[in-house]
Amino acid sequence: MIAPVERHALVRAVALAQQAVVRASPNPGVGCVITRDGRVVGEGATHPPGGPHAEVVALRSAGDRAQGGTAHVSLEPCAHHGRTPPCVDALVDAEVARVVIAHPDPNPVAAGGMARLRAAGIEVIGPLAATDPIRLAVAAQLEGFLSLATRGRPHVTLKLAQTADGALVAPDGQRWLTGPAARASVHRWRAARDAVLVGSGTVVADDPSLDAREVVVVRQPRPVVFDARLRTTPAHRVARAGALVITTSRAPVDRAGALRAAGVEVVAVGAGEGGGVALDEAFAALGRAGIASVFAEPGASLAAALVAGGLVDRLVLHVAAHLGDGQPRRAVPSPPGGAWRTERSGGAGRDAVLHLVPVPGPATTEVSEPTSATAANRPVEEHA
Ligand SMILES: NC(=O)c1ccc[n+]([C@@H]2O[C@H](COP(=O)([O-])OP(=O)(O)OC[C@H]3O[C@@H](n4cnc5c(N)ncnc54)[C@H](OP(=O)(O)O)[C@@H]3O)[C@@H](O)[C@H]2O)c1
Repeated sequence: MIAPVERHALVRAVALAQQAVVRASPNPGVGCVITRDGRVVGEGATHPPGGPHAEVVALRSAGDRAQGGTAHVSLEPCAHHGRTPPCVDALVDAEVARVVIAHPDPNPVAAGGMARLRAAGIEVIGPLAATDPIRLAVAAQLEGFLSLATRGRPHVTLKLAQTADGALVAPDGQRWLTGPAARASVHRWRAARDAVLVGSGTVVADDPSLDAREVVVVRQPRPVVFDARLRTTPAHRVARAGALVITTSRAPVDRAGALRAAGVEVVAVGAGEGGGVALDEAFAALGRAGIASVFAEPGASLAAALVAGGLVDRLVLHVAAHLGDGQPRRAVPSPPGGAWRTERSGGAGRDAVLHLVPVPGPATTEVSEPTSATAANRPVEEHA
């Protein structure tokens, strides 16, 4: 049974973890709070890959005061040797008496922490029930890590901007459909994700840079282009060092060479039915590249393919308060075998913003107020 004071410490651990989620990826951003005799004696959050995990940071700050104390962790401590030694060993060596865990680690490589702690005589409390708000907050915070650990592919948020009549491209040739507030929220989303994805059509039409601007960034998201024929060239803004282009073996070899010479990573996968990149293979390749979370901002072609492939975990729909060419159209296809549920709706300046999640069955417009769990890993943005 978890005491209220321990829940309080777990909430603090989750808050600490929030600052570590982006910098730690593809490792989980974790928070740890160590208490003894009812007082906090140490706390910490995961450092970037290769650096210490949250438990080690907290144990260092606690020093001898950790002995006989309680460690509260947002995620089950790891039990394996990765780039750093197992966290369970550090907890055992520090002789903590209790460990309270909010969320289990589903990663088969790292899991087993609870059993190892118990074997060492440490009392283990948790993990919390699957519906517990603190555990749900961790699940939302770690949606990228959990996707990679359980599905081998990143968590995907798709953004689409449309006019009120469903046009995805401005008929007057203007670059932007939406206003400054909606566009600013896009930059916050980018800053909170590992990668920003578009199709080659958007690169050729708009030459976007896909970086996060006018927002504080821990590190820039990696630009990713799905580009079966390699229409992206080194002259495009997206083709900077660190960019990743997923193509097919049908693409001309000299184009791949030119991109690689510019510092772009080019990875070939199989071709899908329509001749584009095979999406399952493409996302598996992103997972192997350590990309846990993707903010996808493609045009209609790749957006429709992502939805049809069941690859969209959240749709962020920006609806401009004006008409396009006046031709009503259905811009947003339904997810396979289901529909969109409006998880959240609000406004960003003059534009409407919907957050939609795929659900089985018919569409529902039921809107739930954002909870700390559903809002945990979102950039601060629209007013609900
Ligand atoms: N309203 C919005 O939210 C928004 C966002 C972005 C862009 N846009 C607008 O959209 C227009 C471009 O539209 P678009 O549809 O060409 O852009 P896109 O969806 O970003 O790119 C489409 C291209 O991606 C490539 N691709 C690779 N694998 C694919 C796959 N499995 N499925 C689908 N496509 C795949 C294909 O070209 P290859 O076969 O050559 O690889 C395809 O033609 C521009 O005018 C741009 O301004 C609007």
